[in-house]
Amino acid sequence: MTVSLDTRLTDLLGCQYPIVQTAMGWVADPQLVAGTCNAGGFGFLAGATIPPAEMERDILRTKELTDQPFGVNFHMYQPNASAIVDLVIKHGVRAVSYSRSPGKEMIARLKDAGVVCMPTIGLPKHAIKAVELGADVVTVQGGEGGGHTGSVPTSLLIPQVIDAVGDKVPVVAAGGFKDGRGLAGALAWGADGIAMGTRFLMTREAPVPEATKARYVTCNNPSNIIVSRAMDGLPQRMIMNTMLADLEKSGPVKKLFLALINGLKFRQHTGANLFGLLKAAFAQSKSGDLTLSQSIMSANAPMIIQRAMVEGQPDEGVLPSGQVAGTIDQLLSCEEIIEGIVAEATVRLDALAQRVSA
Ligand SMILES: Cc1cc2nc3c(=O)[nH]c(=O)nc-3n(C[C@H](O)[C@H](O)[C@H](O)COP(=O)(O)O)c2cc1C
Repeated sequence: MTVSLDTRLTDLLGCQYPIVQTAMGWVADPQLVAGTCNAGGFGFLAGATIPPAEMERDILRTKELTDQPFGVNFHMYQPNASAIVDLVIKHGVRAVSYSRSPGKEMIARLKDAGVVCMPTIGLPKHAIKAVELGADVVTVQGGEGGGHTGSVPTSLLIPQVIDAVGDKVPVVAAGGFKDGRGLAGALAWGADGIAMGTRFLMTREAPVPEATKARYVTCNNPSNIIVSRAMDGLPQRMIMNTMLADLEKSGPVKKLFLALINGLKFRQHTGANLFGLLKAAFAQSKSGDLTLSQSIMSANAPMIIQRAMVEGQPDEGVLPSGQVAGTIDQLLSCEEIIEGIVAEATVRLDALAQRVSA
């Protein structure tokens, strides 16, 4: 007997396998997305970190590289969210993903145009809310996942979310996946597929400079990939490095000093001066619950991340990552990853089916 990997997710997204490459700022570019889609998975372009003109260029470039459907990621608080939605509709993009849900009106516009709405959530109550707002699929990310993340591990969260909304919409499991055992396990839980960020970052197609990719490959201990609020006040999982160690061990005064130094260093590109930096940070810290140093770091987070992910200086920037990087020791192509997952999941599920029917 050979099991099928078709699920509600593959039907909705129009891909061959229930394997999603999630969006990652400065990482999920047309090359990575097309590599995923051409291998039978479904990739999301990172749209939360680029202006609309670049987004349109990336959508068109992806279409040149693949004839398979793909998605775009954005979040409602980015200033150009509405322009991204226009582009998605104009170019017939199959799906959008977002971690901060747009309002009902924007979701209705997307759904009227046939775009699949696929938020990422980290708690069952957020899954319920997302479905009420119109989500067609929910991706649920456990605490071991990369980038901004929650504290409940994947193994506890996935069944809870499936119980909460799995009868209404497909649920995609994320946080810590890399292989066919993970896909087989997620399907056995009742999920409709898996989504992976870090595993796709650690590919030959990802545009991340080699020196930075090498830091991911040589990090061989999941415990060194920690959650910190040092970047923007929100819990974010990153590989421990010089920059993060400095931020983590600093008291409030040193943090403020480091934030200012970094802020000014990275603001050189944009021409901002000390006064401008402090003014922006004061405004942000007054409007929310971030401290002044967190506000300065938050304003500069994109530039600090780019230092590692775009400029190839892994110790001068930060390295957002899932804990799974600590268990991956080589870069593969998207095709090798997806073929490997499909082959291994099929063997595992076949063996399980035989065991239960014996
Ligand atoms: C380098 C990096 C950048 C990320 N950037 C984004 C982003 O821009 N938008 C987003 O919704 N999620 C972002 N994430 C989270 C991923 O999309 C995904 O949910 C997460 O990596 C899944 O966990 P995994 O890394 O264990 O596979 C990022 C993750 C990483 C590792």
